[in-house]
Amino acid sequence: MIISGKELSAKLKAEMAEQVALFPEKYGRVPHLVVILVGDNPASVSYVTGKAKACELVGLKNTTIRKPADISEAELLELIAGLNADAGVDGILVQLPLPKHIDEGRVIEAISREKDVDGFHPLNVAALWQKRECVLPCTPKGIIKLLKAAGVQIAGKRAVVIGRSNIVGLPVSKLLLDENATVTTAHSRTSDLPALTRQAEILVVAIGRPKFVTADMVSDGTVVIDVGVNRDPETGKLCGDVDFAGVESKASVITPVPGGVGPMTICCLMENTIECFLAKMKR
Ligand code: GUN
Repeated sequence: MIISGKELSAKLKAEMAEQVALFPEKYGRVPHLVVILVGDNPASVSYVTGKAKACELVGLKNTTIRKPADISEAELLELIAGLNADAGVDGILVQLPLPKHIDEGRVIEAISREKDVDGFHPLNVAALWQKRECVLPCTPKGIIKLLKAAGVQIAGKRAVVIGRSNIVGLPVSKLLLDENATVTTAHSRTSDLPALTRQAEILVVAIGRPKFVTADMVSDGTVVIDVGVNRDPETGKLCGDVDFAGVESKASVITPVPGGVGPMTICCLMENTIECFLAKMKR
């Protein structure tokens, strides 16, 4: 079975649109997401465009602020401080990666925790690992939603996550653990990775290498979640971290690229923006 993140996210966005349509009467306005894009990395431009489109569909106000790649760290921090102080802004997202001369950690920490729709702020990360209320990072949250929508039972399963990034690998490992899977987080230094991945009942791949997971690395019946967004070096087309053509027949459930995890990430960003807005309305 191929699980379409595109379909599920369309359904969830339609539901959110209905909810948001009631906000002007209830709260006097709609949630406002500000996205900051530094430079013109083509992948980042494409992600930011996707976020703006989703906002329009759901009925959220979106402002995309584009800054040149040579913006100073101080100027970026000043921009964020202004947005933190702006009562009309509910969510702030700084598209990553940032140019080398800017300290990403410092920028992430500068975003008000209450407006951190990415869930990357150290206080949100700490809350996640302590199982306290927090904004969940979008991609991991989307992956759990996809698994549940596909009817995958997570509790008790052996889950292997390939990748240990702050954005995907680490938080998705934690969310799977919270769903009572037995989780192994593998990475580039893992020895005999194929032997490990063959034991996986749920395999999440977020390593950023085109078609890295091949059929010999997957056992029959495995649930395969492909987080990769790469260019196929041979065809130039978009492809995942999983060799879809080879693995599809062995997997019980698999996500395509594009149209799998990607749309769910954006969908969860919309959800997080609404959550931050509603939390503010309650305060
Ligand atoms: N770059 C790649 N993925 C993400 C994400 O989820 N959030 C942000 N801010 N930047 C990213």
